[in-house]
Amino acid sequence: MKILKAKQENLETLFSLEQIIFAQEPYALSKALLHYHITKNELFCLYEKKTLIGYILWLQRKDFFRLYSLAIHPHFRRKGYANALLQYSFSHLKKKKHFSLEVRVSNTKAIHLYKKCGFTCKKILQNFYPDEDAYLMQKTLNETS
Ligand SMILES: CC(C)(COP(=O)(O)OP(=O)(O)OC[C@H]1O[C@@H](n2cnc3c(N)ncnc32)[C@H](O)[C@@H]1OP(=O)(O)O)[C@@H](O)C(=O)NCCC(=O)NCCS
Repeated sequence: MKILKAKQENLETLFSLEQIIFAQEPYALSKALLHYHITKNELFCLYEKKTLIGYILWLQRKDFFRLYSLAIHPHFRRKGYANALLQYSFSHLKKKKHFSLEVRVSNTKAIHLYKKCGFTCKKILQNFYPDEDAYLMQKTLNETS
């Protein structure tokens, strides 16, 4: 397994992965948005035997990083890859020690993952998504992390 910061040359493969994972979802990232995020934000790609199987995207805010997207190819789930991308982020995004995310209240898989990685639910964001509420979850790295 290898985790690398995304580059423009990864755009096509990232877009293909996004289509596989979020094909049915209205919020799947377009090629243009992926291009923007590769340039402006923190996007890490996870490879297994040189094949892209997942990614994590963080937006840098004034005092924290906000998780914008985390996705693993359906054939490679429940093998610890999402956990690996989160741990990699905590050790490589050194500029801030606060991490924040929103997650659909129905996404129990992701909620379990985030709790396992040390995030706690801070509040419910009513109607955060057009069709659903979200939990706001946060994590702060301690000095020894
Ligand atoms: C959520 C997602 C990123 C998890 O990826 P993953 O690589 O399968 O997760 P991991 O193997 O690292 O799992 C780590 C922990 O997450 C939780 N988890 C993951 N899949 C789970 C499942 N199907 N049921 C319950 N808990 C689950 C568990 O706590 C797991 O730890 P464990 O295996 O020791 O019990 C993946 O399912 C995915 O891409 N889903 C679609 C996109 C999405 O929902 N992204 C999050 C949006 S906020």
